[in-house]
Amino acid sequence: MPGLDLAGDWVTRAASVAVLTGAGISAESGVPTFRGPSGLWRRFRPEDLATPEAFARDPRLVWEWYNWLRQRMAAARPNAAHFALVKLEARIARFTLITQNIDGLHERAGSAKILKLHGDIWRLRCMSCGADWPDRRATLPKLPPHCSCGGLARPDIVWFGEPLPVGVLRAAERAVTNAELLLVIGTAAQVYPAAGLIPLGKASGAKVVEINTEDTPFSGIADFALRGKAGELLPQLVERASR
Ligand code: OAD
Repeated sequence: MPGLDLAGDWVTRAASVAVLTGAGISAESGVPTFRGPSGLWRRFRPEDLATPEAFARDPRLVWEWYNWLRQRMAAARPNAAHFALVKLEARIARFTLITQNIDGLHERAGSAKILKLHGDIWRLRCMSCGADWPDRRATLPKLPPHCSCGGLARPDIVWFGEPLPVGVLRAAERAVTNAELLLVIGTAAQVYPAAGLIPLGKASGAKVVEINTEDTPFSGIADFALRGKAGELLPQLVERASR
């Protein structure tokens, strides 16, 4: 594929690379995406499950949904795309991985530096005292879970209508602003402020390479849009850049 050669050349030459990933990078691991024909938001309404209002209304129902997601995500294994990014991180001195994913598959693959824009399903946070802690059990035994202070615990993730962790967002903005190359992988680029990182990188002079099975609102501004599965294209891209 000539596009892969060209993009591989850009990766080889770039002194700084930022990567933005979305649910599509985990699709081949068996984690459902949010949008698209078999996306979660086709079957469930985000306003019933992924908002602070929904949690205030019915914390148990919301936790049952996240417990189900935890089971799906715990059963998944990182795929070739996650591993390709680990290789890339080792090769590029200034490398930043920014993810919208809460599934933890980048860490499990071995990526070290990860900016998690939307939090982490494997962490819980107390609604009363604000403490947060890891909990990697695939299924939480008692719903809704509580903190040792007695307060109600929530998943430590960002819900619709909530701000992103400000330090993480600023770091992501810095990374795309300073990047010579921005790889955008498996995101429908419809959720802000994450999607806004793409035009920000482009406006700051980064070459933008998109890997997605479909067109997105930002395919038009990408310097190259590679159409296909991340688990197939990304290892080929990284392999070309390693020659
Ligand atoms: P989406 O589910 O909206 O988009 C997934 C994208 O991945 C689509 O553009 C697909 O075409 C593409 N895709 C699917 N399979 C692929 C594959 N094998 N290789 C490459 N691309 C593939 O997921 P996000 O854009 O990540 O919010 O969604 C953004 C946010 O919306 C999520 O972080 C989540 C959700 O509500 C929170 O969890 C807070």
